[in-house]
Amino acid sequence: MLPEICDALERADITTPFAIQEMTLSVALMGTDLIGQARTGTGKTLAFGIPVLQRSIAPKDADYAELPQGKPQALIVAPTRELALQVSSDLALAGSDRGLRVLTVYGGVGYEPQIEALETGVDIVVGTPGRLIDLCNRRVLDISHVHALVLDEADEMLDLGFLPDVETLLRKTPETRQTMLFSATMPSAIVALARMHMRHPMNIRAESSYENATVPATAQFIYQAHDLDKPEIIGRVLQAEDAGKIIVFTRTKRQAQRVADDLVERGFKASPLHGDMAQVAREKALTRFREDKIQVLVATDVAARGIDVRGVSHVINYTCPEDDKTYVHRIGRTGRAGASGIAITFVDWADLHRWKLINKALDLPFDEPIETYSTSEHLFHDQGIPPGTKGRVADPKPVERAPREPRGDRSGDRPPRNRNRQRTRTRTRNGETVAAEGAGATPAGGGDGEKPAGSSRNRRRRRRSSGAGERPAPAAES
Ligand SMILES: Nc1ncnc2c1ncn2[C@@H]1O[C@H](COP(=O)(O)OP(=O)(O)O)[C@@H](O)[C@H]1O
Ligand SMILES: [Mg+2]
Repeated sequence: MLPEICDALERADITTPFAIQEMTLSVALMGTDLIGQARTGTGKTLAFGIPVLQRSIAPKDADYAELPQGKPQALIVAPTRELALQVSSDLALAGSDRGLRVLTVYGGVGYEPQIEALETGVDIVVGTPGRLIDLCNRRVLDISHVHALVLDEADEMLDLGFLPDVETLLRKTPETRQTMLFSATMPSAIVALARMHMRHPMNIRAESSYENATVPATAQFIYQAHDLDKPEIIGRVLQAEDAGKIIVFTRTKRQAQRVADDLVERGFKASPLHGDMAQVAREKALTRFREDKIQVLVATDVAARGIDVRGVSHVINYTCPEDDKTYVHRIGRTGRAGASGIAITFVDWADLHRWKLINKALDLPFDEPIETYSTSEHLFHDQGIPPGTKGRVADPKPVERAPREPRGDRSGDRPPRNRNRQRTRTRTRNGETVAAEGAGATPAGGGDGEKPAGSSRNRRRRRRSSGAGERPAPAAES
């Protein structure tokens, strides 16, 4: 490996290769085609990223002048924008001393900056299939000189219906290229694609069977829970002893939005992440999550696919995942890179059969999910939730309430709650009827500072049930 790549990685504390990297590097560095299979979070990005960087010719190298100037030397195709951005940032990190120009392209944003960058000249392009094809068709992207092509998370591309696009792209690249395909699983369509477009690929698997594909460091809990009780349960889990960053997966975009809104209303720092959000908003949510400015990301599968965030302590499946593969992928978001994590899956009564199929496929020991309520003893015990914890840390919004001492075993050190309390205190001192701020606010009751619990519960229930009967989002959501 080039010392300049080693040095750059070492600065990011990456010093010993992970299994898949150790197995692929020597082969890939020779230019051999390869198929790399390893579960999520095992370091596949650098397994292809390092060879791509090392085999590309940098502007400072003597041979650079002989290349078609400014045309990409390598192309990496990823299924989603988030994943493409993540690959680029890993490449930027590892290649920071090499001086190669990496461009990320994806749909949903304007063409101009991408076209401008392509006109200036790039060395490596990372992108999602649709936009790559668009740019080729506009004749601003020329991939006929790439020496390396990587298909990252190939099984996700299959799920999203991108395989025809991938084939179109493959046909636009030289036959002599090196092709690397990475995937967590190997469905037959991917095997067929590889057979068609790769030359004697070397098969590299970092583990022996799909049954073991779940991250071993993840503790799994399967709860049969009632839909209306789920936000309350999550609110309590959020205050568990070792709750760090938490990703909640929902089935639909609307559900993601609704659950995120609910958690915010309960005083938690939460944000949705789904395909109806503008690209900037999605990136902002991810950045804030990475930087610990928010604790909970409520995401649809597609929007969260492949994203790698360090320090995710919990993954919560708001509803039973579609199948075993989705389950494995989702819980792979926690316990990544050897850190331990917790996966909680809510199974609705109607989804029991679906869960049993997953359980069987993965040979898990949770055939009978335990009936669980926010008040259940075992929930507190399993999750290390301090006794007496409630699923909210802020008073319900329009309700005025007298200041209260924090409970004994809770930290009481929660900024959103304190802020609310401060405001409440100022307002009630005059004993006046004051309308609460914010959208949908209604005048709160007089100076008594308390509203019957029932009224706020009804309000929440009404909002939740408005989403009942929604249909799952189409697979290719983003
Ligand atoms: N050799 C290594 N040492 C330490 N951390 C690594 C190493 N290789 C990768 N990582 C980190 O592990 C995480 C998961 O890697 P990633 O390539 O996203 O996994 P995958 O693509 O297999 O899901 C990333 O945060 C990455 O920076
Ligand atoms: Mg990956």
